[in-house]
Amino acid sequence: MVDVLLGLQWGDEGKGKIADFLTPSYDVVARFQGGPNAGHSLEINGKKHVLNTIPSGIFHENCINLIGNGVVIDPILLRAEIEKTIAAGADVRARLHISKKAHLILPSHRLLDAASEKAKGEQKIGSTLRGISPTYQDKTGRSGLRIGDADSPEFKNLYARALEKHISVFRYYEFPYEEELARLESEWFEAVEYLRGFSQVNSEFFLHRLISEGKKVLAEGAQGSLLDLDFGSYPYVTSSSTISGGACVGLGLAPKHINKVTGIFKAYCTRVGSGPFPTELDDELGQYLRDKGNEYGATTGRPRRTGWLDLPALKYAIMLSGVDELIMMKADVLSGMDTINAALSYEGCTDDEQCPFNIQGTTVTPIYKSFPGWQEDISVIREYHQLPETFRNYIQFMEAECQVPIGIISIGPDREQTIQRK
Ligand code: GDP
Ligand code: IMO
Ligand code: MG
Repeated sequence: MVDVLLGLQWGDEGKGKIADFLTPSYDVVARFQGGPNAGHSLEINGKKHVLNTIPSGIFHENCINLIGNGVVIDPILLRAEIEKTIAAGADVRARLHISKKAHLILPSHRLLDAASEKAKGEQKIGSTLRGISPTYQDKTGRSGLRIGDADSPEFKNLYARALEKHISVFRYYEFPYEEELARLESEWFEAVEYLRGFSQVNSEFFLHRLISEGKKVLAEGAQGSLLDLDFGSYPYVTSSSTISGGACVGLGLAPKHINKVTGIFKAYCTRVGSGPFPTELDDELGQYLRDKGNEYGATTGRPRRTGWLDLPALKYAIMLSGVDELIMMKADVLSGMDTINAALSYEGCTDDEQCPFNIQGTTVTPIYKSFPGWQEDISVIREYHQLPETFRNYIQFMEAECQVPIGIISIGPDREQTIQRK
C-alpha cells in the first residue's frame, strides 16, 4: 500500500517536516522525482536538518529510505549529504537504498544549466543551477547515465560520450567550462565510487516485494504541483512530474497501489525563481511575510517571493493529483495580522477553466476575499479546539472551497508543532 505526499504550490510547502512527522506510520519513505534542487527541512528537538536527495524518513530507526528511479542524483552532493546526515546521527548505511535506474547528474550537466540560464538572460527560469533540466533532457534523449551503469566496465566510455555532446553545446553557448569541469571531474568519479558502497537496488522489484509483504510506503514528492513539467506554469517549471501520477512512473508502481494522496499547502504562497505568481505581494507586506516566515531557500538561500493564498491554483493542484486530504502549513506566520486575504477566483475566468496557468504570458487578476485575522501566538497550541475561532473559521472556509478535509495543521517548524485533527 502506497500513500503519496506532495506539495500543491510552488515548492517549499513543508514536505520535509510532514514526511518526517508521518514516517512513524510507514515502513518505507521513497522519493520519486526531482533531485538536489529540492531542499526539505526537518526540525527535530530544535535542530534543523536539510535534505536534498535523501528521503525525509532517514532520521527514523526502522525506516527504509528509497531514492527511486525517477530521481536524478548528483554523486558529489549526495555524498556530502550522506556524510552530513551520518554526522547528525542517522544510520544512513543501513537505511538508504538507491535505485540503479536513477540518472546521474554529471558535472557538465551543472555547467550546462548555468550556460542555458545565462543564455536566456531576462527570460531565465531561475533554476537552482543543480543541472536538473540538462540531466532530464539526456534521460529522455536516451543518452543519460544511470547510477547502475557505474558497475559496467564501459562506464568511463559512456561518460566520455555524454561529455563530448555537452562540450559541443558549451561551444554553441560560448560558455567557459574547462576550469570548473576539471575541478569537479575527479571528485565526481570518487563520489560515484563512494555511492557504490551503498545499497543499490532494482527498486521496482525491491518496492513490490516490500508491498507484497504488507509494508506501508510513503512516496515523498519534491518541488510542487505548480512546478510540474506538464501542468505548471511552463516554461517556468522544473523538469519532472511533481503530481501524484509521477509517483507511479518514478517508482515503477501501478496506479492500483496508490491509496491515499495527501497534499501540503502553505496558508499563503511562495515561489522561488521566475514565472507567473498572480497573488504576489511585491511590497512591504510581502517582505513582512518573507521575514516572519523565514522564506529564504533551503537549497540556494535565495529570498522567496511571497503572496496571498491562491485558491484557483490550489484547487487545480488538488484536481491534478486527486488529493484526499490537505495539510495546512505555516499558519503561525499569519498570526497578528488584522486581515488575511485569499484569492477566490481570477477576473474573467469561467468556473470550468479556473486556472489559465498553461497559457504562457497570460496575466490574471485575482479576486480576493478578506478574512479577519487572529492575534494569538498559535505556535504554542497543540489541540485543534484551542485554536482561535477566527482561525478555525478560516480553515472551515478552505475545506468547503476545496471540498477536501484539512487533516493536519502545522504551526511551527518543529515536529512537535503539529496539530493532527481527530
Ligand atoms: P519543503 O521543500 O516542502 O520540504 O519545504 P522547505 O523545507 O524548503 O521550506 C519550509 C520551511 O518552513 C522550512 O524552513 C521549515 O523549517 C519551515 N516550516 C515548516 N513548517 C512550518 C510551520 O508550520 N511554521 C513555520 N513557521 N515554519 C515552518
Ligand atoms: P522543494 O522540494 C522551490 C524551482 C526553481 C526554478 C524552477 C526550475 O524544496 O520544494 P530547477 O533547478 O528544478 O530546474 O528549477 O523550479 N524549484 C523549486 N522551488 N522548491 C523546490 O524544491 C524547487 N525545486 C526547483 O527555483 O524556479
Ligand atoms: Mg524546499
